[in-house]
Amino acid sequence: MTNDSSVHHTVPSSLEDGRHHDEQTEIADGAAVDGNIHVGYWDSAADDRSLNQATDRLTDLVAERLAATPGQHLLDVGCGTGRPALRIAQATGARVSGISVSDQDIDLARTRADATSLADRVDFQYADACALPFEAASFDGAWAIESMMHIPDRTIALTEIARTLRPGSTLVITDVLLRSPVTGHSAEIVRQTCRAFQSPSLPEPGELRTALDRAGLQLVVFNDIGEHVRRTYQAFADAFGDVAPSADDPHHEFFNSTRFLPRFGALPQIGYAFLVARRT
Ligand SMILES: C[S@@+](CC[C@H](N)C(=O)[O-])C[C@H]1O[C@@H](n2cnc3c(N)ncnc32)[C@H](O)[C@@H]1O
Repeated sequence: MTNDSSVHHTVPSSLEDGRHHDEQTEIADGAAVDGNIHVGYWDSAADDRSLNQATDRLTDLVAERLAATPGQHLLDVGCGTGRPALRIAQATGARVSGISVSDQDIDLARTRADATSLADRVDFQYADACALPFEAASFDGAWAIESMMHIPDRTIALTEIARTLRPGSTLVITDVLLRSPVTGHSAEIVRQTCRAFQSPSLPEPGELRTALDRAGLQLVVFNDIGEHVRRTYQAFADAFGDVAPSADDPHHEFFNSTRFLPRFGALPQIGYAFLVARRT
């Protein structure tokens, strides 16, 4: 796209993307979100959950939709530091395999798993969602929490995920959503946020629907829960706003971004997708 509503950037290679995620992982692990690298969910304005509790709540909503049973095998696409995988394994009794293009994610996730009693049911490995190292129909369900926004070709990733799912199984996707095109100053805020988070473009509703369809995944639920997660952006800025690394610090751009995150979060065009799809 060449007009003002474009929020596309140079597509990072997997290696560059992985390096970037190493940096984000380091920041998120043990911080205000205690390893969850995703938004929080609040039921209402009166909900006084902390950011940390609210991020776990989003994971729990994903687990509810997966409705997995003990002994089933689930795939976590873009597993971060493993906190969601461990929480869902604990809640469901299922086995979970998590993948990420960040080596540091995988190291931290393995360490996290080793500190629990779930290490025999949860494993993590370096892999790209667009080339999964699993046989066809390996999994009884899958989820992707905020990984689609990092993947340039969502159709390729979803087709690959669909390949690894057994027919009839469920995929849950949650991600930042660009509800409608942005222009002018709003487009610049979106552009800066995408750059800081290494997102080639924010997923859009029509694009997600088409990608799911092409991948052989039947859309069952498409909820925009943007108003339930919006508090995250200010909370994140509050948690990290005082940190000011120098310009040559590898985290400089990320921390810089926290200053405009509240403005990003206040944009009415920014929603949050909570999707449930079924492998046909
Ligand atoms: C915002 S973090 C979310 C982490 C985790 N799902 C969570 O909720 O805590 C995005 C994750 O997607 C991973 N990711 C990005 N591109 C990927 C790709 N092409 N294949 C697999 N994982 C990818 C990153 O390494 C990172 O773990």
